[in-house]
Amino acid sequence: MSKKILVLAGDGIGPEIVGEAVKVIGVLQREYGLDVELDSALLGGCAVDASGEPYPAATQAKARAADAVLLGAVGGPQYDTLPRPQRPERGLLAIRKDLNLFANLRPAMVYPQLAAASSLKPELVAGLDILIVRELTGDIYFGEPRGIEQRNGERVGFNTMIYSESEIRRIVRVAFEAARKRGGRVCSIDKMNVLETTQLWRDVAEEVARDYADVSLSHMLVDNAAMQLVRNPKQFDVMVTGNIFGDILSDEASMLTGSIGMLPSASLDEHGKGMYEPIHGSAPDIAGKGVANPLATILSVAMMLRYSLERADLAERVERAVSRVLDQGLRTADIWSAGCEKVGTVAMGAAVLAAL
Ligand code: NAI
Ligand code: MG
Repeated sequence: MSKKILVLAGDGIGPEIVGEAVKVIGVLQREYGLDVELDSALLGGCAVDASGEPYPAATQAKARAADAVLLGAVGGPQYDTLPRPQRPERGLLAIRKDLNLFANLRPAMVYPQLAAASSLKPELVAGLDILIVRELTGDIYFGEPRGIEQRNGERVGFNTMIYSESEIRRIVRVAFEAARKRGGRVCSIDKMNVLETTQLWRDVAEEVARDYADVSLSHMLVDNAAMQLVRNPKQFDVMVTGNIFGDILSDEASMLTGSIGMLPSASLDEHGKGMYEPIHGSAPDIAGKGVANPLATILSVAMMLRYSLERADLAERVERAVSRVLDQGLRTADIWSAGCEKVGTVAMGAAVLAAL
């Protein structure tokens, strides 16, 4: 039976970049026997414009029925004055929670062709290929109690860092499974010297490791990990951590690559269903100009093929096509450097299709 993909183009540059990614899916259907059905719906600002809600019931029904979701990006300055429940980002949080997408996978890759774009020395990042696995539905972002209240005549703010062992176990397993298909090494990040929650994290990671004789496990304190990411990022293969540490470390790691327009991400549930999106936002400053880089979204399709559609062969094909286009010297404005040919969104997409 064919798998169902729900396409959520979203706002800003979303429709432009998703348009190119959908063409890639079309080629895979026609030429390589990819058996999928596509549908589309509204999420974020475009949904607010149409119905007043960022995650409307119609989108929810389709998202629940889909095997995979491809998302562009949501948001834009025109929505900044809306009340919180109607903000586009609420749609994003709502769909992640609704689909129970607890595992956020963020590769930070540096293509050899783009190593000069990093803020670090090229030799430190050339060939960088790490995967950050971030827990996405728990931790201090969701823990109760939380709030701001008066105590002893002043305001006190508080949040709760909390993880159950089952929550830790399932995300650490995702990291080990991923490591098995990559470099075979997991580094678990915690702050066990001061936080009990993360002592439990470390203990459970050790327990999970016993099921994976072929994968090595190491541990690192989060402050050291932040330092090591800029000192010697290539020491890492898979890093696994909780929601708040992962939020910070994954942004740090992606910036090492110097090319926000190149990085995909996946958010998975326990059954292989996932939402796939570029890590960048809706880029309102360049929306509608035809200059956005579609490669992060196209590489998100590759992740979808690998993690939700059981077509790792096609994932590699898409990744090779992207690499070939870079070899040809084609660059959108965000990754352009002297001596390369500057192209727009559609021309970049067409080059990937040709390379496929
Ligand atoms: P952003 O990622 O949209 O843009 C940051 C900078 O990178 C801008 O100069 C933009 O032009 C550039 N850029 C981003 N993607 C690009 C691409 N594919 N090709 C070329 N250049 C690209 O982040 P910003 O400006 O902080 O946020 C803009 C809007 O996006 C906000 O409303 C924000 O809430 C939303 N946002 C949405 C996300 C999502 O849907 N997952 C994630 C981050 C931000
Ligand atoms: Mg963030």
